[in-house]
Amino acid sequence: MNISISKTKERDIKTRVTLLSPHSNKPFIKWAGGKTQLLGELISRVPRSYNVYFEPFIGGGALYFAISPDEAIIADINEDLINAYIIVRDSPDELIEALSKYKNEKVYFYEIRSQLQENLSPIERAARLIYLNRTCFNGLYRVNKSGQFNVPFAGYKNPNIAQTDKILAGSEALQNTDIYHAGFDEVLKKATTNDFIYLDPPYFPKSVYSDFKRYNKEQFHKEDHERLAELYDNLSNRGCKVMLSNSDTPFTRELYKKWRIDTVYAKRMINSDASKRGEVTEIIVTNYDY
Ligand SMILES: C[S@@+](CC[C@H](N)C(=O)[O-])C[C@H]1O[C@@H](n2cnc3c(N)ncnc32)[C@H](O)[C@@H]1O
Repeated sequence: MNISISKTKERDIKTRVTLLSPHSNKPFIKWAGGKTQLLGELISRVPRSYNVYFEPFIGGGALYFAISPDEAIIADINEDLINAYIIVRDSPDELIEALSKYKNEKVYFYEIRSQLQENLSPIERAARLIYLNRTCFNGLYRVNKSGQFNVPFAGYKNPNIAQTDKILAGSEALQNTDIYHAGFDEVLKKATTNDFIYLDPPYFPKSVYSDFKRYNKEQFHKEDHERLAELYDNLSNRGCKVMLSNSDTPFTRELYKKWRIDTVYAKRMINSDASKRGEVTEIIVTNYDY
């Protein structure tokens, strides 16, 4: 019997069952550009079978947690975020204990916000990120040019800081996942035939006003989108199944014109230009049949 075929089949069944389950995992962190809203559209395009799942722009990992792949490689350029993933996977109990000590109070929030990550242990650093994410305005992650978190206190009534269920479920999902702090091109060197790759880069701005997503000190420029599109072709030549989401613009459509481009609708609430809040079109690019 061909072991790789039967392994793939097993995964296929598990993936489909997970997709149907209303209790599938949810992100332990809220992330700008998070894909919870587009989840139905993305899930319906997940290939029926694949080997390793890759998500090199993991952010909050909405799709990753929803499908809970058996074997995965995830990465992000945001070091603080990647540290939190590693701690959730390897030390969930210590993390929950650390989180239980945090307080939803304004003065305390600003004290925690002003801490320098380099003075904290990895567990304290992960707890700080999750605490700030739960208690700051809109659950945004935004840093200034020197990398300091700068979102104000929200004053929510009951922000559920520890989120024990999500952290424990997330930890279980992450057990067979390799986690890297790396740029997208580095981890994708490992991808081979029949691996499934979901690419969700910072969106190319629809207008000069919509470039509100500063996840990192570094920005994702036009040239990075061009580099990513070249890599998309290269991964296709390697036999990988690749799905990508991005904003709907002439530039992004031109980059992926060789491939199948579907138009989908999303409500985008976080926008510096109030008149631009509402439903927008986005694109999902695939290079395989589903
Ligand atoms: C649109 S968000 C991903 C959202 C994610 N799909 C979710 O559901 O939350 C884009 C992510 O790409 C990361 N990023 C930006 N530039 C990157 C790069 N060059 N390589 C890898 N990750 C990068 C950002 O830190 C951010 O987490």
